[in-house]
Amino acid sequence: MEIQRIAVIGAGIMGNGIAQVAALGGFETRLMDADDTALHQGFASIKRNLEKGVERGKVESAGMAAALDRVSCTLNLKKATDGADLVIEAIVEDMPAKLDLFGQLDRMTLPHAILATNTSALSVTEMAGGTSRPEQVLGMHFFNPPHLMKLVELVRGLETSDETVRVAEAVSHQMAKETVLINESPGFVTSRVNALLGNEAFRMLQEGVASPEDIDKAVRLGLNYPMGPLEMVDMVGLDTRLQVLKHLCRTLGERFRPTPIHLKYVSAGRLGRKTGKGIYEYDEQGKRK
Ligand code: NAI
Repeated sequence: MEIQRIAVIGAGIMGNGIAQVAALGGFETRLMDADDTALHQGFASIKRNLEKGVERGKVESAGMAAALDRVSCTLNLKKATDGADLVIEAIVEDMPAKLDLFGQLDRMTLPHAILATNTSALSVTEMAGGTSRPEQVLGMHFFNPPHLMKLVELVRGLETSDETVRVAEAVSHQMAKETVLINESPGFVTSRVNALLGNEAFRMLQEGVASPEDIDKAVRLGLNYPMGPLEMVDMVGLDTRLQVLKHLCRTLGERFRPTPIHLKYVSAGRLGRKTGKGIYEYDEQGKRK
């Protein structure tokens, strides 16, 4: 099967980036969000990132114009998925919300359409179980920010067919991404490692082992990571990471239990870059203060 039309559901941090790489890859792309402001911000972010790409010589200006022409935005799920060959879900990391969406997608999309989730950790098999086409459901786990990160983790649920994996691999390659194939397991490979490291950094912060700046600097310069774990959680979103940790704690055990300090930050609305304040503070342009 050849994919021509892709619908991306959720225009937040990940959804708008996925729509960008889909459009750049030549797919007709529809971006949908239930929230008007999020949809506008999502499209603005695509435009801004493409403009930066042109400034840096990574994207040709004709390529940018063509990619923008291929993206359309809507608040209506039916319109977004009409004629879509592939739907990539990037809504909140919450199983009931995802199950509800997968049920709707199953009813309204073409019979041949593949349904993919960008979940960081949740069960693809469970989402597939809410549809009548579990063999056409898989995880396509992109990374933040999708236009810069090279990998897509393809996650095979219990019933995912070889053909679905093959098509998702071809689509990822057309989006200029590399893939790895993971048999479903909570957090796959990357979220499992990343959540554990980030949680340990929260523990150190709580114990007063070092300042946030020094925890991050130690991991960057001493362990040669491109980013510190607290800088990373600000980029991911403290709310999203908390959902991931809760799920991993339930499924894999105590080592993933979220720390009280993490819960406190989320209760205070300090969600990271997206709210201008997380572990660190950010200005309007998203630059660290
Ligand atoms: P986000 O909070 O930035 O965006 C989620 C968007 O979904 C919001 O704009 C919200 O209005 C919209 N939404 C919620 N319910 C909806 C519905 N039923 N229909 C349509 N739109 C709806 O979240 P983010 O960070 O983009 O995460 C999305 C997914 O991607 C989550 O499953 C997350 O675990 C996963 N992910 C996140 C990464 C990150 O670094 N933030 C990295 C990789 C995966």
